[in-house]
Amino acid sequence: MLKIVVMVSGGGTNLQAIMDAIAAGKITNTEIAGVISNKKDAFALERAAKAGIPAQCVSVKDFATRDEFNEALLAAVDSYQPDLVVLAGFLVILPEMLVKNYKNRMINIHPSLIPSFCGAGFYGLRVHEEVLARGNKVTGATVHFVDEGCDSGPILLQKAVEVKYGDTPEVLQRRVMEEAEWNILPQAIDLIANGKVMFEDGHAWVKE
Ligand code: GRF
Repeated sequence: MLKIVVMVSGGGTNLQAIMDAIAAGKITNTEIAGVISNKKDAFALERAAKAGIPAQCVSVKDFATRDEFNEALLAAVDSYQPDLVVLAGFLVILPEMLVKNYKNRMINIHPSLIPSFCGAGFYGLRVHEEVLARGNKVTGATVHFVDEGCDSGPILLQKAVEVKYGDTPEVLQRRVMEEAEWNILPQAIDLIANGKVMFEDGHAWVKE
């Protein structure tokens, strides 16, 4: 059984997609051991509570220094003893120790086709604003393993989404979530839970 911790900062629609996929049997061999948010008012925490999943908030505002926050965040993750850490819209600079301790055991969902429209400052609506500003006809989402960089770890899954004439950033964001994020993040977890992921020359691949 793969034990996962899901880290969130916002509405939790990706968390909901994971919970729904487990309930529907689209993710097997997996349990959500806990949900951690850095925002006390994150609706994702309400989603977890409603599903009876242990959830907690670790807010930087509750600590005198960044180091103390980092230590508390690492301790919170470790407390669930997860096999996999899932970043689902977690908008916090990760402590180095967390990334190091969970190398190849931490994944992130990013709302673009990496390496386009990613890196520092590319999160939320800004990603989709830039896609529209550049005039891209295709965008999408990426699930990648987390390394010490920003959106730079081994890519595991990607799914393309059409950009349509007249799209606003909000409309495009919703389409990318519905058509890509909510599909490939659960799919990635199921693949990992069932031993279907391998690494070669620094790249991640799905075993045929
Ligand atoms: C999603 O758009 C995801 O791509 C990005 O942050 C957002 C999280 O949304 N990483 P939600 O909290 O899962 O609804």
